[in-house]
Amino acid sequence: MPKLLIALFAAAHIAFAIPAAFAADDPGAQITRPAGYKPMAGDAALGERLFNDARLSTNGMSCASCHANHGAFQASFAKPYPHTVAMAKEQLGRKTVYLDEMIQGCMVMPMAAKPLPWDSKELAGLTAYLLTVQKTFKPSH
Ligand code: HEC
Repeated sequence: MPKLLIALFAAAHIAFAIPAAFAADDPGAQITRPAGYKPMAGDAALGERLFNDARLSTNGMSCASCHANHGAFQASFAKPYPHTVAMAKEQLGRKTVYLDEMIQGCMVMPMAAKPLPWDSKELAGLTAYLLTVQKTFKPSH
């Protein structure tokens, strides 16, 4: 996508209304940090509540449905971000992802929802909480 278009989408906060044609060309675009994105400090306590909240999905799942007690995390989760996550690579063509991008990946894939607004306290909170979860994660293989 031309840089100008990306900037326009980001500026107008309509990054998630990317026309289907773009999404089909690059399914990873919907989880890619918009131009000029600056991660915000987040509230991990809010993130923990959201992690357990099925209202984030359209299919009755919460993040905790899969990830409680480190469930569904592969060894990659222990590595600093950005890194390769098999699901994002195979399904969205993203070679490496930042943590906030991977949260968006789980919003659009297993949670069957829209990505969270990039400048939201929800995304910042989930990111802050997942960083605390990552610190206690020991890969078993
Ligand atoms: C239906 C099960 C399911 C749900 C629900 C789910 N995920 Fe995931 N998640 C996965 C799977 C599967 C992977 C990919 C594991 C892989 O490919 O290495 C993953 C990967 C991740 C990763 C990357 C781990 C790494 O290796 O870096 C993060 C972070 C994550 N999920 C957070 C979330 C958050 C936050 C939510 C809720 C918004 C969520 N997930 C909802 C199944 C789920």
